[in-house]
Amino acid sequence: MHNKHQNKNELHTPVLLDAVLRYLDPHKGETYLDLTAGYGGHAAAILQRTQGPATLVDRDEHAIEQLRGRFGDEVVLRHQTFLDASQELVDQGKQFDLLLADLGVSSPHLNQVDRGFSWQAAGPLDMRMDQSQSLTAEAVVNTWAEADLMRILRQYGEEPKAGQIAALIVGNRPFSTTTQLADVVKRAWPGHSRVHPATRTFQAIRIAVNDELGMLEAALPLWMQLLAPGGRMGIISFHSLEDRLVKRFLSEQGGERYDADLRVVTKRPITAEPNEIVFNPRARSAKLRVAVKIKNQTERSLHANSGKE
Ligand SMILES: C[S@@+](CC[C@H](N)C(=O)[O-])C[C@H]1O[C@@H](n2cnc3c(N)ncnc32)[C@H](O)[C@@H]1O
Repeated sequence: MHNKHQNKNELHTPVLLDAVLRYLDPHKGETYLDLTAGYGGHAAAILQRTQGPATLVDRDEHAIEQLRGRFGDEVVLRHQTFLDASQELVDQGKQFDLLLADLGVSSPHLNQVDRGFSWQAAGPLDMRMDQSQSLTAEAVVNTWAEADLMRILRQYGEEPKAGQIAALIVGNRPFSTTTQLADVVKRAWPGHSRVHPATRTFQAIRIAVNDELGMLEAALPLWMQLLAPGGRMGIISFHSLEDRLVKRFLSEQGGERYDADLRVVTKRPITAEPNEIVFNPRARSAKLRVAVKIKNQTERSLHANSGKE
């Protein structure tokens, strides 16, 4: 089908696109809120079906510029964190039929060496999704106390050698490039392993710099409020820490209680088929969970009773 927003040279390939369309099931005229619009891959496919009002949020100015070029005045663009945007939209009493959060970083974040997200090439220690933010990876690595580094490596990186790596960082700073840091982290893991030894450390620092888990946890209850009755919400996560937060929130809100507000459609998360992973390796760790906002008391009772059989 022809898509007027099609972008053949997409900078970022949207993950699980077919599943997103199947589960969110966009209809003509429905309203759409994309909380992590990135380069607009999901948004273009959804807008093609809704042809309705859309609000696209991203904290990265570069992504917003690309979205502006792709969609022009047809959509409302917000250069904000999804937490700030969600709070403002709740305060304005807004609700949407479709809500999507495709969490984490985009391909340009990882591929553009000067953004400092990758240990594979020498870039500045930056890792900010929003480059107007003051906290950078360099500040975390060069100034944080050893105990704080150990905590984030353990919590956000699930790094078994968190203590050793924190001590190595403190003993070898200051660092100015990603590869300097990766080389020092490697010393904690002599020999070869399937995953590069710096992967977990970089994940931990990135999550800390962008407060990724704190923001997700605070935003989830707002997303409930932003969903119109009968509306569908899809959340794609890329690591177990995010997915755990999403799973717990959905089961709290969507359990088989008589007053449940959500019906969770995906009992298990949807993951990518092998053929998608071949052409888009980022899809390997993607997990999609979807829930529907229960419309009214009658539907709520039916939902609660359906669990009793
Ligand atoms: C995986 S990409 C989204 C790609 C998009 N679905 C597409 O098809 O092009 C994630 C995007 O979310 C943005 N992002 C991550 N955390 C955010 C947050 N807390 N608030 C706003 N944007 C965020 C990133 O800047 C990035 O552009």
